[in-house]
Amino acid sequence: MNKLIFEKHVAGSNPFTLPDVDIANTDITTTIPSQFLRGEKTALPEVSEVEAVRHFTELSTRAYGVDSGLYPLGSCTMKYNPKINEWAARLPGWAGLHPCQPQETVQGALQLYYEMQVMLAEITGMDSFTLQPAAGAHGEMAGVLIMKAYHQHRQDHRRTRMMVPDSAHGTNPATANVVGYEVIEVKSNPRGLVDLDDLRSKMSDEVAGLMLTNPNTLGLFEEDIEEIAAIVHEGGGLLYYDGANLNGIMGVTRPGDMGFDVVHVNLHKTFSTPHGGGGPGAGPVGVKAPLAAFLPHPLVIRQGDAYRFDYDRPLSIGKVKNYYGNFGVIVKAYTYIKSLGAAGLKEACQHAVLNANYLRHQLGQVYHIPQDLLCKHEFVATSRNQADQGVSTLDIAKRLIDYGYHPPTVYFPLIVHEAMMIEPTETESRERLDDFVQTMQAIALEAKEMPDLVILAPHDAAIRRVDEVTAARKPILKWEAQ
Ligand SMILES: Cc1ncc(COP(=O)(O)O)c(C=O)c1O
Repeated sequence: MNKLIFEKHVAGSNPFTLPDVDIANTDITTTIPSQFLRGEKTALPEVSEVEAVRHFTELSTRAYGVDSGLYPLGSCTMKYNPKINEWAARLPGWAGLHPCQPQETVQGALQLYYEMQVMLAEITGMDSFTLQPAAGAHGEMAGVLIMKAYHQHRQDHRRTRMMVPDSAHGTNPATANVVGYEVIEVKSNPRGLVDLDDLRSKMSDEVAGLMLTNPNTLGLFEEDIEEIAAIVHEGGGLLYYDGANLNGIMGVTRPGDMGFDVVHVNLHKTFSTPHGGGGPGAGPVGVKAPLAAFLPHPLVIRQGDAYRFDYDRPLSIGKVKNYYGNFGVIVKAYTYIKSLGAAGLKEACQHAVLNANYLRHQLGQVYHIPQDLLCKHEFVATSRNQADQGVSTLDIAKRLIDYGYHPPTVYFPLIVHEAMMIEPTETESRERLDDFVQTMQAIALEAKEMPDLVILAPHDAAIRRVDEVTAARKPILKWEAQ
């Protein structure tokens, strides 16, 4: 185990010098109020330059990312982020902008925003887009506020409930709740799709709408989507599309064509901008024309050859983000869309679906696959075949760490017992998928012949098993001097 940087401290080993101060009035004791001044020197570790470099290099090897290897985290679309996106976002003309600059000096940025709004509308089949929300869940909140504003504008105040399928991502019921709706759970049928009878029985004039993702969180396409849309619309509700799974249909079909009224997309998943560990992201929201007036303001509009922010939107739900969203993320996603083009986006989707079905078929030889349907970009397997040996999904996930993989999403969706949700994405080659299959087969064999090897995994990780609840609820995030 490597030492912490504090444990490497050697007094006097850091002989760095700071450049001379070249601004006047630099005596901080006169410019900072005394109650904010430290009474004694802070206990920073002193190490030589090479030790500092080694420390950060070692830390960087502990973080697993898509650039390290296959990252089959279902629902999260951990695809490779082409480096050209980073190059574009770092161009000085973008990176050096200040959000308070006059609009006439940032015409290029406004044009990029505008074109992004138009491209996302085309890709999803919606009429207007806002780029403001900073994450998928943030987009959900903006989208559901828009639905609420629509109903209230029509003086339809009875609609106090939101339907959410039992397979939904946790952010969907959380969003509906935060926006003030009572959540009504819609059951899935044994095939893993929305149970139409249950949906019909729950639709009423008290329901504002249905939040759905298609493909759903089992990776399955809701083949009755037109009927689902008809049930919700005929009952006066609206259909919300959680676009975190757009990867599985992009370029092939569109939520707007399936009857959805509001959509959010996760730029940081489908459109390949890096994510994980809390951001940064972007969750633009698109709507059909009857809801456009309620979008957050400002939108970017074009007037002749010029672009500007339009605040003249009296029915808008207001601003949901300072300035106009996470600009760098939008530049990266814009670059991705432009570099792939329409045909490339479709191909990316087809490869994502092909890769997922390939893995589903191969892993189905040793692992239980509850829904025996062709999947879209992800699928759910379980550890049922390993249960007799006392091996659980968590054990398999931990053992994968020993083999150098990030584990898949586990215990989600909640409707599948001991779920392992696997999403390979389109950016993995056949060879890398085969490597993963071999590893999963090896673990299945271990589970059969030497179950303790799996049950006690990981053996080679920096940290072995932790009490997951305590680790999540009471994390120790800082080092305390003894
Ligand atoms: C289906 C689905 N919906 C919504 C979200 C929320 O997106 P974000 O993490 O950007 O808030 C996710 C994220 O994993 C998701 O998979």
